[in-house]
Amino acid sequence: MQKRDFLVVRDFTAKEIRAVLDLAKDIKRDQARHSRALEGKELAMLFQKTSTRTRVSFEVAMHQLGGQAIFLDWRSTNFTLGGIEDEIRSLDRYVSAIMARVFKHADVEAMARAARVPVINGLSDAAHPCQALADLLTIEEKFPDTRKIKLVFTGDGTDNVCVSLIEACALLGVQLTVVAPKEFIPPSSVMEWLAKNNLGRKISVTQDIAAGVKDADVIYTDTFVSMGQESEGERRIKIMHPYQLNSEVVKRTGKSPFIMHCLPAHRDIEITSDVLDSDKSIIFDQAENRLHAQKALLLFLLRPGFGS
Ligand code: CP
Repeated sequence: MQKRDFLVVRDFTAKEIRAVLDLAKDIKRDQARHSRALEGKELAMLFQKTSTRTRVSFEVAMHQLGGQAIFLDWRSTNFTLGGIEDEIRSLDRYVSAIMARVFKHADVEAMARAARVPVINGLSDAAHPCQALADLLTIEEKFPDTRKIKLVFTGDGTDNVCVSLIEACALLGVQLTVVAPKEFIPPSSVMEWLAKNNLGRKISVTQDIAAGVKDADVIYTDTFVSMGQESEGERRIKIMHPYQLNSEVVKRTGKSPFIMHCLPAHRDIEITSDVLDSDKSIIFDQAENRLHAQKALLLFLLRPGFGS
């Protein structure tokens, strides 16, 4: 059987995403049930960048499924001496799968081409597909039919989290409005993919925050300055400030929307503390759901046909 990778959400079909989310729900309900499912399997976790949630949730996921995770800080490996291809071709002789957090998406693509085992994108400049799985799982816990809700992402439309959310919502039929300044609208590549696959019907992009957030059931934001963008931080924050997730924006929905953020948050930059800490915040459910969604993803990739 051909190995599968998960570099972007659209590597999976809508049916496959649905299967992973349904399995994640089963796993969350009965966390002890699959405790030996990945016995004898190992996951190498390569990090070019820092992480709290991705690293710990993948490591705990492997442990709780009976497998093992190996953390590799990029700078302490020989990836900086040898090329990606040779290092990956060595690594895949030891492990069953590789998860990598990289600066450039091209690096994780090169890893997937070289590896004989599944490669998972644990965040790149272009995509954060594992986050999108946890996000959809979190939203589905609040709404029995997510095809009837309006989700809004406000802030940086070029953001990897936003791009993966667009792909996941398009595949699952969730209405998503991206509210972003003209300088930071979603990349043409994802908009072209929507158009080409006739998936753009429920995805819209606007610069008008008042109109964009109206009737939102859920509002999501992410950092205005991602890792590696620090040198242009001041400019980005200034342009995106009108798109901050604050109590005024929440009021403009005319509803009482759930609040999402993938973390880490920069309080009072992209989201105000009162909103982040409000009783409508499901931010820490999102963080928890990284664990359950990734367990399902690991089973899907390492035990094809699992549960079917
Ligand atoms: N949301 C997320 O990916 O968190 P970390 O950067 O801490 O892994």
